[in-house]
Amino acid sequence: MATILRDLSYRYQWLYDGISRLAALSVGGEKRFRQLALQNLTIGSDTQILDLCCGSGQTTQFLVKYSKNVIGLDASPLSLSRARRNLPQAIYVEAFAENMPFEDGSFDVVHTSAALHEMQSEQLQKILKEVYRVLRTGGVFTLVDFHQPTNLLFVPGLWVFLWLFETETAWKLLRADLAVLLREQGFQVDKPQLYAGGSLQVIQGMKG
Ligand SMILES: C[S@@+](CC[C@H](N)C(=O)[O-])C[C@H]1O[C@@H](n2cnc3c(N)ncnc32)[C@H](O)[C@@H]1O
Repeated sequence: MATILRDLSYRYQWLYDGISRLAALSVGGEKRFRQLALQNLTIGSDTQILDLCCGSGQTTQFLVKYSKNVIGLDASPLSLSRARRNLPQAIYVEAFAENMPFEDGSFDVVHTSAALHEMQSEQLQKILKEVYRVLRTGGVFTLVDFHQPTNLLFVPGLWVFLWLFETETAWKLLRADLAVLLREQGFQVDKPQLYAGGSLQVIQGMKG
């Protein structure tokens, strides 16, 4: 079931965006959802930002409003061709997040939304290591992704969503402690900020 709907949502951008919009109602709408992980960041027009696993530019569209130095990276040529069409203001790089073609310390901010739940555990470790490497000292990694709900009322909604659209890696992420994984890579991390009854988490980690 998940595979068919998942494939369809990746094939048709209108379907992916429609589902995202629907899911984002849980935090007050898409605009708020897309900017949850950007709160409290100091971003100026020169800030070097990487939108990691940028997809078709769903959050890149907000990042380019703050900075003229935004790079979107994704492994999918189809998503990148859409991103290039949707938001030509950013530069796009086709690569794997676990092996990024950037120098050490290249970015002030690395952002990723709704992507880490697609990674296998070992892959996730590699990606966090790479993020640490490409950030400058004092730079910030900010992410938004699923989390085990703390309010039981949100459990059925999240479970149905994961069952329809996600794979086993998303269920694994619910059992993982991302803040601990970031700390293990050397990030300074506060507790995750939870939204939508705890079913979404925002984590910001600083490279000390
Ligand atoms: C669920 S989409 C999220 C897209 C966008 N960030 C958003 O918030 O809607 C996950 C994205 O991660 C990309 N992706 C998955 N594994 C990747 C990897 N190992 N390296 C780079 N991109 C990857 C996929 O191609 C897809 O565009």
